[in-house]
Amino acid sequence: MSVEFDPFSTHLGADPYPLYRELREQGPVHHAMPSDIHCITRYEEARSVLGQPELFSSRAMETVFARGSNVKFKMRHVMGVVRFLWRMRASLIHFRKAGSIITIDPPRHGELRSIVNRGFTPKQIAGWEPWIRQIVAEELGDKLERTGDFDAIRDLAIPLPTRVIMQVLGIEKGLRADFKRWSDAIISGISGPGRHNPMELGIFDSMAELMLFLRETIRERRASPGEDLISLLVDPSKGHALGDAEAIQFVVLLLVAGNETTTNLIGNGINALYDHPDQLALLLEDPTRVNGFIEETLRFDPPIQIVFRRATRDTEIAGVSIPKGAYVAPMLACANRDDRKFPNGDRFDILRDSAGHLGFGFGLHFCLGSALARLQAQVALEAIMPHLGRLQRRDEVPAIIDSFLVRGRSALVLCESASA
Ligand code: HEM
Repeated sequence: MSVEFDPFSTHLGADPYPLYRELREQGPVHHAMPSDIHCITRYEEARSVLGQPELFSSRAMETVFARGSNVKFKMRHVMGVVRFLWRMRASLIHFRKAGSIITIDPPRHGELRSIVNRGFTPKQIAGWEPWIRQIVAEELGDKLERTGDFDAIRDLAIPLPTRVIMQVLGIEKGLRADFKRWSDAIISGISGPGRHNPMELGIFDSMAELMLFLRETIRERRASPGEDLISLLVDPSKGHALGDAEAIQFVVLLLVAGNETTTNLIGNGINALYDHPDQLALLLEDPTRVNGFIEETLRFDPPIQIVFRRATRDTEIAGVSIPKGAYVAPMLACANRDDRKFPNGDRFDILRDSAGHLGFGFGLHFCLGSALARLQAQVALEAIMPHLGRLQRRDEVPAIIDSFLVRGRSALVLCESASA
């Protein structure tokens, strides 16, 4: 009997990987009903879809999420959208034309990417390391020394990326709670629990608050640039600069794409170590293995499970016909376990060569923030690592967050082990 899977289902539970294995064995393409999406389960085929942006458009990332929600439009929702646009003094056409980098195709994608790349050069990111270390030290304080509950998610993995991105953008500390609220509302409405009815959650109000704030900030920085990322992207004296709508969408994307993902890389990594004590021992024996451990986490249990594309013409994948306009979804997490690419793919092995994993995607849209995410994870994990031998996980199977897109634990409480 063939196995069933739908990308928008969240009853995959704590461990979707046995199902992923069955899907790969069944074939490289799984046509999921009722969402009518062609899910790509194996490594070669998933990578090939991501490597052909002319055939598989990223515009899908703009529209596909509506399939994951059951929104029934009511008059008050329409009014909410209208109020949002009025507050923004913007039209949908204007925003759609500017596009968010993750949803646009060549040639515009290349133009936008070359502008935003200048904010994420290896030199710049290396220069951020000292204050990232400082943030980790401040957040941890003596929490790890004290007995009682230390929640690696709440106490470090959540605040770290929010503070880092705010610092990069040059946003004052006082706005931290607002920033967190705005990004939580947006993520929840797109792929989390709020997706079932984002209209009721006031997501448009959060969006409007964030965007109005950003529009003001962008205008100020354009007039009087500083050393921060926003200034770098909108300062006309630096060459091509982003317009208001482009810059707003880019910053919103950084919040959405960069926060929860980094949180879950840290959480999924720590969790995998507790599931595999032999690997924890290997890491403690030689802490310089931390980078191999991070890459293996991105392969083995990646924060982003799946991405979406749309066929620009009739085509086929591994002999399966894909009609023009069909949604195609490379299942990054499933492909990453493909034995054809990574022998014994279901095994967590921090010493393996996990290069080529799809945890950050592949091709033109390869994650812009990968180096920043790796650095944050490295600094956070190096700080926690010396304590892991002493602490144990409170819950054998920590609760999973409610999302079809992002995989991570909602809490990861570590306490003194009874034997210590
Ligand atoms: C562990 C953490 C992260 C993971 C797992 C991750 C994953 C991904 C993936 C899979 C994509 C490709 C999407 C696609 O092909 O459609 C992507 C794109 C992107 N990511 Fe990340 N990301 C992480 C952290 C970050 C951070 C920290 C930032 C920035 C602060 C960031 C910014 C972006 C941007 C701007 C794109 C779009 C690039 C483009 O379309 O050219 N990400 N990310």
